[in-house]
Amino acid sequence: MPDAVYVRDAFARIADRYVLTNHVLSCGADIWWRKVVTSRIKRWKPARLLDVASGTGDLALEIQDACPECEVVASDFCAEMLRHASDRGLRETVIADALNLPFPDGGFDVVTVAFGLRNMADYPAALREMRRVLKPGGRLVILDFSLPAGLLRGPYRFYLHKVLPRMAGWLTGQRDAYEYLGGSIEQFPSGTKMCELLETCGFESARSDGLTGGVVSVYEGTNPA
Ligand SMILES: C[S@@+](CC[C@H](N)C(=O)[O-])C[C@H]1O[C@@H](n2cnc3c(N)ncnc32)[C@H](O)[C@@H]1O
Repeated sequence: MPDAVYVRDAFARIADRYVLTNHVLSCGADIWWRKVVTSRIKRWKPARLLDVASGTGDLALEIQDACPECEVVASDFCAEMLRHASDRGLRETVIADALNLPFPDGGFDVVTVAFGLRNMADYPAALREMRRVLKPGGRLVILDFSLPAGLLRGPYRFYLHKVLPRMAGWLTGQRDAYEYLGGSIEQFPSGTKMCELLETCGFESARSDGLTGGVVSVYEGTNPA
């Protein structure tokens, strides 16, 4: 499981180049992945949404723009990342550890976490904490990397472990942070394993949808009513 001190420090070091580096390394696909999640959420018309591990706020900003009637709260334990979210126009930001959220039970219609859960020290504890702050019947949406199946898996792994850290090193000067990325994706539960984990943590109707050949997946679970 990832070490929280290393993770916070790594994101503080790459915060200034994080958004640009994401767009370059994914060839812009990360913008589309967040739009897919946002369009799903927009249909639910949430009144209050919490974006956990919001970082520079890319997903939260997309939702804030698409759902003007929704109060969007963004939290992250890395102040350097969250400062970019505020500077880019995110109205409500809270510095907080996802394992100990400073919110009362049942206050949010939707909780989102994009590319964040994978970096947390205890996945079940984080998922239970996200469920705690959801209203009964509220939904959790997770967007994160997964490993594609079939023919794409080999070339993708080569890109992930050999090409991406080198390119990210040039862009950020922090190659080690991106060597960590490949390892974190390899050990992160995906597909049915993630759905099982969600159900173990008390969510129901867990589902998983792969995007871009399975390079990323969107997971959804509902807090029982
Ligand atoms: C890869 S970034 C994702 C940022 C953003 N959600 C996005 O889609 O670009 C991961 C973020 O998770 C945050 N993070 C990791 N573990 C955390 C924890 N335990 N509590 C709060 N934030 C955490 C990091 O600080 C970092 O900003």
